[in-house]
Amino acid sequence: MKFFVDTAEIDAIAELNDLGMVDGVTTNPSLIKKSGRDIIEVTKEICALVDGPVSAEVTATDADTMIAEGRKLAEIAENIAVKVPLTWDGLKACKVLSGEGKMVNVTLCFSANQAILAAKAGATFISPFIGRLDDINLDGMDLIADIRNVYDNYAFETQILAASIRSANHVLESARIGADVMTAPPAVIKAMVNHPLTDKGLDAFLKDIAAAEIKIL
Ligand code: G3P
Repeated sequence: MKFFVDTAEIDAIAELNDLGMVDGVTTNPSLIKKSGRDIIEVTKEICALVDGPVSAEVTATDADTMIAEGRKLAEIAENIAVKVPLTWDGLKACKVLSGEGKMVNVTLCFSANQAILAAKAGATFISPFIGRLDDINLDGMDLIADIRNVYDNYAFETQILAASIRSANHVLESARIGADVMTAPPAVIKAMVNHPLTDKGLDAFLKDIAAAEIKIL
């Protein structure tokens, strides 16, 4: 499973990237707003830091402007994936931009039917939002499983990018189902290291190290 980091915070991306845990980055207008940075500047910085795909989202809602914005974003670096919303106009933009050889991430996916349309329009990535389905008492993980099933039936090459991931359990469940990629905030990726038995075991070792005065250096 590829790990994308869902943030526009440079320091957080750099820390995880140094550990080899960043296969790509996803941003969206809310994350750009949170960073307080200019979208072009911060996206350029992220692209220079990370080798894998960096998703940058268009701001328009009509296909022609989305295509123009997508072309401008793609000029930032070769690893840009233009992010478009899963609307009819977004699918039109996806078809044109992917036809030009650009990576396209179709976002705000909430149904398997939407995911089929995105694959037909040439999407590189489809971003189903798990957490936001959970928020309205639906099971976001069912959507990941549905899309995996349908894509496998027809060998669609569009990669399933599990998004709106809010917990370490979301990561594990997505991996079990076979999502190609997951994107999560840095805090969720870091939370994956936590286990109470690791803490308990380390405490016991530290007590014995102190009691026996064990020294290596
Ligand atoms: O990748 C999409 C993600 O940023 C949305 O997450 O938590 O705002 O639903 P959330």
